[in-house]
Amino acid sequence: MRFPENFIQEVVDRTDIEALIGRYVTLKRGGSNLLGLCPFHSEKTPSFTVSPAKKMFFCFGCHAGGSAITFVQKMENLDFAEAVEVLAERAGLPLPKDSGAQAYAGGVSRKRVLEMNLEAAKFFRSCLFDPKIGAEGMEYFRQDRGLSVATIKHFGLGFAPNSFGMLTDHMHRLGYKDEELIEACLCGKSQKTGRAYDYFRNRVIFPIIDTSGNVVAFGGRVMDDSKPKYLNSSDTPAFKKSKNLFALNFAKNCCAERMLLCEGYMDVIALHAAGFEFAVATLGTAMTPEHARMFSKYTKKVIISYDSDEAGQNAANKAMRLLGEVGVDVRVLKMAGAKDPDEYIKKFGADRFRQLLEQSRTGFEYKTEAVLAKYDLSVGSDKIKASNALCEIVAGYWSSVEREVYIDILSKKLELPQDVLRNSVEQLRRRQTRRAQAEESREAQATLKNFGDRVNPESAKDPRAAAAEETILGLLLLREEYRNEIQKGGIALTAEDFMTDFNRRVFLAVMQMHESESGVRLELLGESFTPDEMGRIERMEVMRGQLTQNGIEVLISAVNTLREAKNRESMKDSDLATRLAFLREKKAKLHKGKADTQ
Ligand code: UTP
Ligand code: MN
Repeated sequence: MRFPENFIQEVVDRTDIEALIGRYVTLKRGGSNLLGLCPFHSEKTPSFTVSPAKKMFFCFGCHAGGSAITFVQKMENLDFAEAVEVLAERAGLPLPKDSGAQAYAGGVSRKRVLEMNLEAAKFFRSCLFDPKIGAEGMEYFRQDRGLSVATIKHFGLGFAPNSFGMLTDHMHRLGYKDEELIEACLCGKSQKTGRAYDYFRNRVIFPIIDTSGNVVAFGGRVMDDSKPKYLNSSDTPAFKKSKNLFALNFAKNCCAERMLLCEGYMDVIALHAAGFEFAVATLGTAMTPEHARMFSKYTKKVIISYDSDEAGQNAANKAMRLLGEVGVDVRVLKMAGAKDPDEYIKKFGADRFRQLLEQSRTGFEYKTEAVLAKYDLSVGSDKIKASNALCEIVAGYWSSVEREVYIDILSKKLELPQDVLRNSVEQLRRRQTRRAQAEESREAQATLKNFGDRVNPESAKDPRAAAAEETILGLLLLREEYRNEIQKGGIALTAEDFMTDFNRRVFLAVMQMHESESGVRLELLGESFTPDEMGRIERMEVMRGQLTQNGIEVLISAVNTLREAKNRESMKDSDLATRLAFLREKKAKLHKGKADTQ
C-alpha cells in the first residue's frame, strides 16, 4: 500500500464531499441525501445521490458509486493513488514521505505517460525547428497554412521525422522501455519482432494539452493528400478522447460568456491566431455527453461552427442536442463562401468573422430555417407538413417559457392560431417524453447488464446464489453486529462458502477491515478494487439499506440459500464422480470380457 490507512481515512474525512461533487454536479437537497443528474451517464431525471453523512455517492441509474476518492478517480480518469493525492492537496494535507512517484505495478501510470508525452513533445518541436530534419514541416505550417512562428510556438507544434526509429531511440536513451512507449501510444508494436517503432512518421504534430498543462496526446497530419489525413493517439492511461477538447488549455481563461466549437485542429489554431481564443475542437470524434458536460462547466453559450457539408450539419445537430440537455445555450454559425473557419478567415479576414459571430442563429432559428427551406407555405399540404415538423422542434424544448415564445413566433410565421399549435406541441411532447423514458431505461438496463458481467462475471452461473451473496454482503456492510456474529462464529460463514470470486474478495476485505483497528471504511477498499467494483459494493449496501426487512433472519436465510447452492454444486460433482466410476467399471468389464473370449 502506497499510503498508510489512517492517511486515506483522514483525506476522506477532511473532504467535504458535497462541495467536491458540487463542482461537477448541481445538487439539490432531497431528505438526508443530495440529488442531481449523474455525471457518469446521460439522464434527464436525477438518479445520482450523495450522502454527506456517509461520505459516499451512488447513482441509481448506472450504479456508479463509492467514496470521494472513487468519484475523483472516475471523473478525472486517475488511479487510486493519484486521486488520493489530489484530494490530500485540496484538503491541505501534506503527503506522507516516500509515497510519491513509485513504480506502478501492472500497466503504465498516468504520471509516467505524461512524462513520456512531454519528452516526445520536446522532441517533435526540436525536429520542427531543425532545418536538417523539419524543413518540410516548417514550410507546410508557414507557407501552406500561413502560421506565424509565434503561433507555432504558442501551440507547441512539432514534426515527426520520416523514420521508424528516431523517437523510439531518443526515448530509449531517456530510459523508457518498449512496452511503456507502446502503451503511451507513442510507438506501435512490430508484428514480426514485437519491438516498438515510431507511431507518428513524416507528419506535422499537434500536441493536445489538458487544462493543467499536461501533454495528454498528439494528433499528426500528413503534409500532402495521402491517407489517413490525421493520426491521433488512441486512449491511454492519460487520455480519453471523449473527455478532451483541443485548445481548452487556452480557451478556459476567456470562455465564460461563449465558446466556439469547430471541427478541426487547424480551424482552432487559425481562430486563436486571429484573436478568437475561445475556440476549441473535439478530437476527431463527434461530441460526446462527456464533452457536453465539460462545456457546461466552462461556459454559458456554445457557438457551433462546423463545416457546411452534410456530415458537418449532422454533427451540429448532435452537438446541439447534447448541449441542450446540459442546459448550455447553443448558437450555430452561418458561413457562406468558405467551408470552414480557417478558410473563411483567410478569405475574408477576422473582422468579417466577428460579424458572423454576432449574427449566429439560435438553435431554434437554425432548425426552423432548415424546415422552412424545404416547404412552400402557400401550398396547403406543404404547410401541414411544415407545421408538424416545426411543432416537433418546439416540443423538444424543456422550458415551458421557451416553448411559449416559439409558439408565438410560429403562429405568426404560419398564420395559425397559437392554441392550435400549442395543442399539437403538447401532444408531441408527451410522445417524446415517453420515448425518452423508454430509451433511458433501456440504456440503463443495458449498462446494468454489461456492468454485472464485467464486475462479477461468475454471477451468471448461479444467479440465485450470487443474489444471496449480495444480500449477505449488503447486510454485513450495513450492520456491525452481523459482522461480530460471523467473527464469533455465531453464524457459520467463511470465505469458502462464496461461489463467486468477486463476492468472496469483498467478503474477505470487509471482514479484514472489521477486525482491524480502523473498522469498516469503504474508501480503504479503493486500493484493491476498481471504481466499477466500488460501485457494485456501494450498490449492495445502498440497495439493502432501502429495504425494510434487514433482520438477522434475512441473513441466516441467505446463508442457507448459499449453502444449498454450494451443496447442489458439489452434488453435481459427486454425481459426476459416481457416473465416471460406473463408466470406468463398465469399460473394464467389457475389456475383460473381450480378453476372455479371445
Ligand atoms: P477535416 O478533414 O475537416 O480537417 O477534419 P481539418 O482540421 O479542417 O484539416 P485541414 O484544414 O484539412 O488541414 C476535422 C477534424 O477531424 C479529425 C481531426 O481532428 C480534424 O482536425 N480527423 C480528420 C481525424 O481525426 N482523422 C482524419 O483522418 C481526418
Ligand atoms: Mn480545414
